[in-house]
Formats: sequence, C-alpha cells, structure tokens
Amino acid sequence: MTSTRNPILPGATIGIFGGGQLGRMTAMAARAMGYRILVLDPDPACPARFVVDGCIEAGWDDAREAANLARGCDVVTLEIEQISPRSMDAAAALAPVRPGRAMLSIIQDRIEQKDWLRRNGFPIGPYRAVRSLDDVRNAVLALGGRCFCKSATGGYDGRGQGKVGFNPDASVEEEVQGAWEALGQAAGVVEQAISLDKEISVLVARSPSGEVKVYPAAWNHHEHQILAWSVIPAPISSDLESQARKIATDIADTFQLEGILAIEFFVTTDGHLFVNELAPRPHNSYHASERACITGQFEQHVRAICDLPLGDTDVVQPGAIANLLGDIWYNPDSPKAFDKQPNFAAALTVPGVRLHLYEKLRPRKGRKMGHLSAVASTPEEAVARVQRALQLL
Ligand SMILES: Nc1ncnc2c1ncn2[C@@H]1O[C@H](COP(=O)(O)OP(=O)(O)O)[C@@H](O)[C@H]1O
Ligand SMILES: [Mg+2]
Repeated sequence: MTSTRNPILPGATIGIFGGGQLGRMTAMAARAMGYRILVLDPDPACPARFVVDGCIEAGWDDAREAANLARGCDVVTLEIEQISPRSMDAAAALAPVRPGRAMLSIIQDRIEQKDWLRRNGFPIGPYRAVRSLDDVRNAVLALGGRCFCKSATGGYDGRGQGKVGFNPDASVEEEVQGAWEALGQAAGVVEQAISLDKEISVLVARSPSGEVKVYPAAWNHHEHQILAWSVIPAPISSDLESQARKIATDIADTFQLEGILAIEFFVTTDGHLFVNELAPRPHNSYHASERACITGQFEQHVRAICDLPLGDTDVVQPGAIANLLGDIWYNPDSPKAFDKQPNFAAALTVPGVRLHLYEKLRPRKGRKMGHLSAVASTPEEAVARVQRALQLL
C-alpha cells in the first residue's frame, strides 16, 4: 500500500548520525542531487568531514547535540546503529528521523533483533540469548559445541565475538571463558555455527509513502569475520534469489521501514536460507551497486528518506569490490608502523578498476580505509579484476 508522497526536495538539508565512510558516501550522493548535509560524529576528523556543510562533534548518546542536528535539518538519517533512544527522540521532536527509533531499538540489540525475526516467522539459525558465564556454557552445550558468541550491542566486523569449538588445542571450558570475555562479560547471543555454502545479502529500500524496491543479491566473501570482497549479481539459483528478495521485502514491510535496510543471509550447505543480521543503513556489501546497478545504494538511501520515487535496482553490468584494510599500510620496519604507501597507480592499470578512499587519517589493522571496485562482463571476471588490483598494491 502506498500513500501520498510528501517529498523533501533538493536544496533541503539532510542530517546524518555518523560521519564514517557510509555517511561520507551518502553525503556525496546527496550533494550530487543538490542537498545540503550536516553530520554528527564523535570524531571531528571523520571521513564525512571533508564533504559536508557542517559537522557536530558529539557522542551517540548526546541528546542535546542530536536536537541541534535536527534543528538545522529537514530530515535526519543514520549510518550506524548505535544511536541512543534518547538522541533519536530528541531529534524526532524537531525533524522526521528515518529510519525511526522503534525499528532501530530492535535492530541495535542482537537479542531483540533475533527474537523479532523469530517471532515474525523469518528463518534464522539456532541461537540462545546469554547473560552470564553459565548461560554461555549451557547454550554451547545445547547448540552442539561449535558456536559463534556475539555481544548484544556495539559489535561489528567480528568485534565483540568469540568462537567455541574451533580450537583443537583448547578445552571447551577455556573457550567458553574466552567467549564470555569476548562478550565483555555482558549480554549476548550464542549461535550454532552454520555450515555455509556461501553468504549473500539483499538490500531493500522503502519510502515513507510505502514504495519498495529490492536489489539483486550480492555474494559476500568474509575473511576473519570481515568482508573481503563482494559481487553483484550473486551466482545463485533464481529460486534462492527470489526467496531472499521476498524475505527482504517482507522484513521491510513488517518494520514499515523508512530508508534502506541490508539483510545478511547464510546459504547453508543443504541449500537453506537463514537471516544472519540486519543493518538499517547503507552496507559494505552494496558498494558495488554504485557501478553494477542502475541506482547506487547511497542515492537510493537519499531518495528513500526524502520520499522521492525510488530508483531502479536492475544490474547494468556485473560489479565487484574488495575492501582496503589498514593492514596494507603496515610497515614493520618503520617506527610509525602504518606509513607504507600502497601502489595505487599499479592497481589502477587493471581494466575496469576504480579506487575509493575514505580519507581516514590513521590506518590500523582491520580498519576499513577504502575499497577497489571493478566492472566486467561476468561476476567472476569482476572479482578477478579487483583481486588482481589488490595484489598489485
Ligand atoms: N552462526 C554462524 N555460523 C557460521 N559463520 C558465522 C556465524 N556467525 C557469524 N559467522 C561469520 O562471521 C561473520 C561476521 O559475523 P556477523 O554476525 O555478520 O557480525 P558482524 O556484525 O561483525 O558483521 C559472518 O559474516 C560469517 O562469515
Ligand atoms: Mg555481518
């Protein structure tokens, strides 16, 4: 069901909670369409800093500064899940906040998120909520021994996670204790380790007036629990593709999403789909949409929160990305440690390849500093091209 559109037109100001790379690239897409942008971020040197009209330096729980952000904006959105409910409310009193607080507070807590998915009948793998060391021990036992333990709040790129049953040299008790430490001795979920054929994601956009557009699935390859590369379209059966798209659309409708939402899925070795996790914002696995799809995810984000007609999501050409982590700047011989200059010029000799850097000032191991993208006539060739470029760095 769609209702009357009430668009926020170019020339208006968009506020973004978060000025990381996702906020930066949203701001760049918004700028290209003629919007003005303010961001709120604790780091005054955040990546969005260099492309926005103003940056408010404040934490995610600073309700007063959240109100100041909203006061200067026609609509407010986010690029990170950790915004406190108080800040969301303070902003919502002064401008529409999309996505809204109700959905965010479910998604920002892994326990709530999983319980919501289960309650609403979406397919997810076996899990237990845990709040003590005893809970972790019992959950591991109940789930068969090989488990991923994830903190309820704040984790990303595998942070706040511990594994049990993967280290043949450790006792179960040692691993359980290690997992409880990884959770920061606080609430979390213990999930059964799923036997994965592959990981995919689907991005869905929904506007306040109820229009929905869903993207073709992306195929994602993780290393050490961090996305290494991703490609659109995913090489999966049309049956699996339509199942994943249907789940994504149903989740967006059930939440009455206003904005964009990425759904990460596990494809099990016996061909089933489980929802892994939700992200109510642009997503690393859709960076390739900028080049592979008619409408890139960042423009779609802007269109959705501004209640503009959503863009087409069809693939125009296969596209892949590979993340550039801080590791490639690492120089063991230097006292500064991260001052190696990657050979970007060499990488850019590979046909179809482009470079995207986020202007982060301090590289660190595992920190996402940028990505390479490539287009080609097949998804396999697009992946091969970004990988070749990566090797030339
Ligand atoms: N239950 C699981 N079974 C198998 N692999 C998992 C499981 N949970 C996580 N992983 C692996 O770890 C990665 C990161 O976990 P995820 O829950 O997506 O956390 P993050 O918020 O860090 O992205 C996943 O993409 C997947 O590769
Ligand atoms: Mg994930």
